[in-house]
Amino acid sequence: MVKICCIGAGYVGGPTMAMIAFKCPDIEVVVVDISVARINAWNSDRLPIFEPGLEDVVKGCRGRNLFFSYDVEKHVAAADIVFVSVNTPTKTRGLGAGKAADLTYWESAARMIADVSKSDKIVVEKSTVPVKTAEAIEKILTHNNKGINFQILSNPEFLAEGTAIEDLAKPDRVLIGGRETPEGQKAIEALKAVYAHWVPEENIITMNLWSAELSKLAANAILAQRISSINAMSALCEATGADVSEVAYAVGKDSRIGPKFLNASVGFGGSCFQKDILNLVYICECNGLTEVANYWKQVVQINDYQKSRFVKRVVSSMFNTVSGKKIAILGFAFKKDTGDTRETAAIDVCHGLLGDNAKISIYDPQVTADQIMRDLAMNKFDWDHPQHLQPMSPTAAKKVDVVWDAYEATKNAHGVCILTEWDEFKKLDYKKVYDGMQKPAFIFDGRNVINVEELRKIGFIVYSVGKPLDPWVKDLPAAPPS
Ligand code: NAD
Ligand code: UDX
Repeated sequence: MVKICCIGAGYVGGPTMAMIAFKCPDIEVVVVDISVARINAWNSDRLPIFEPGLEDVVKGCRGRNLFFSYDVEKHVAAADIVFVSVNTPTKTRGLGAGKAADLTYWESAARMIADVSKSDKIVVEKSTVPVKTAEAIEKILTHNNKGINFQILSNPEFLAEGTAIEDLAKPDRVLIGGRETPEGQKAIEALKAVYAHWVPEENIITMNLWSAELSKLAANAILAQRISSINAMSALCEATGADVSEVAYAVGKDSRIGPKFLNASVGFGGSCFQKDILNLVYICECNGLTEVANYWKQVVQINDYQKSRFVKRVVSSMFNTVSGKKIAILGFAFKKDTGDTRETAAIDVCHGLLGDNAKISIYDPQVTADQIMRDLAMNKFDWDHPQHLQPMSPTAAKKVDVVWDAYEATKNAHGVCILTEWDEFKKLDYKKVYDGMQKPAFIFDGRNVINVEELRKIGFIVYSVGKPLDPWVKDLPAAPPS
């Protein structure tokens, strides 16, 4: 029986390995992690991450050929194939801080693999890493020259949170990069055989290591670029009376462009897009490609602009001040169907509103109050560096309230901001929301989920990203730049 061990039981390691075990009953899969709490949760009825369909897949094979353990070394030593799916956050200190990928976790995993291995292994880069990482990993793995053959493969993961199970069950493609040597090709075939249990052969793409590593950064950069492109258009739509949904529809009808990933929003979030683009920017700079670096940097800058533009709309519409006013925040996760808040636009919007002294009341169906308070207290990029976390100051904490119901959040509020596109926000009884609010009642939709005309009929003053502006919103002077 082939034995797989995956180091890192996070948003990628957990679901990906569960899918492999589910589809390959003849393979034993053990997912290991240094976080005992995370492993205990994977072994319990309350999984550590919320992902539609994940529970069924885990329950279908846990204890059969899927195991979760914190005995990292034992299972790595026993495995034929070791996936490394540890976090690769943005560096917060030292050379390349704020851009380069922090490979501390990766390097420590690689050193441990080298130390405990007693048999040949295929080591698979599942984490997103800078191009050429495999070269450094090879050096680490072979540093104590025990005569063990390590083959490094790049097998980046393309799943998106909220649809991870669907994406894993029917991937657009599985990408495998390896050395162009006979041993490298043999390793590629071995990994291909795992995925071939359920992925059609034509969807399993193989290539050289550097192309595979770079393809992952390129895919995320190009996806994020589409969002920044449509978000940039949303600003122009608001200035001209065009409707961004109509523009996106017309543009997406071109078969060369396609309709996906053209939804204007308050800004993209998530643990990947910003981190991977900044990493790409850093790699370009290191290679002397300043113009290329500046091109990609702009994708992140437009995203930051979109978030601050949203805050300015709120403040300027509400008579240029939100000081002491209650603002309801509907949705805190970075997208619907996940409880993940890493780099969510909601953090920046809440900081902007708190900076103007608003009182905010937050509701999200999947994010805990503790998580929200932690997120609002931390500095940029610190979410993956727990040693830097600090509690929120008592004065700031007094201005934030987390509630478990959208109606409770909006009660007595002067304004409502929709920041995550949860389906339930489309179906709220907005008449009831309006009746419970201070007047004039404002609603700012950062996700284009509400029916603008219906809400205007109820009496709301409505702003929806990239849609023709309510005269009330339009006629007010813009807030001074922050
Ligand atoms: P995560 O933080 O959820 O999980 C990483 C896990 O690795 C953590 O549980 C951590 O405790 C563990 N870990 C770190 N060092 C370890 C070590 N030395 N030994 C054992 N365990 C260790 O991260 P994630 O979201 O799963 O992302 C993992 C990688 O996959 C990143 O490189 C990310 O860029 C990439 N990726 C993420 C997504 C996504 O949607 N989250 C999608 C595609 C790719
Ligand atoms: C992304 C990539 O899609 C995935 O392939 C990669 O493996 C990891 O990074 P993820 O971050 O989980 O996945 O979610 P995604 O669906 O890409 O959304 C990212 C952000 O962009 C979210 O905040 C989402 O709301 C936003 N978004 C997405 C838009 O604002 N508009 C869109 O049209 C699409």
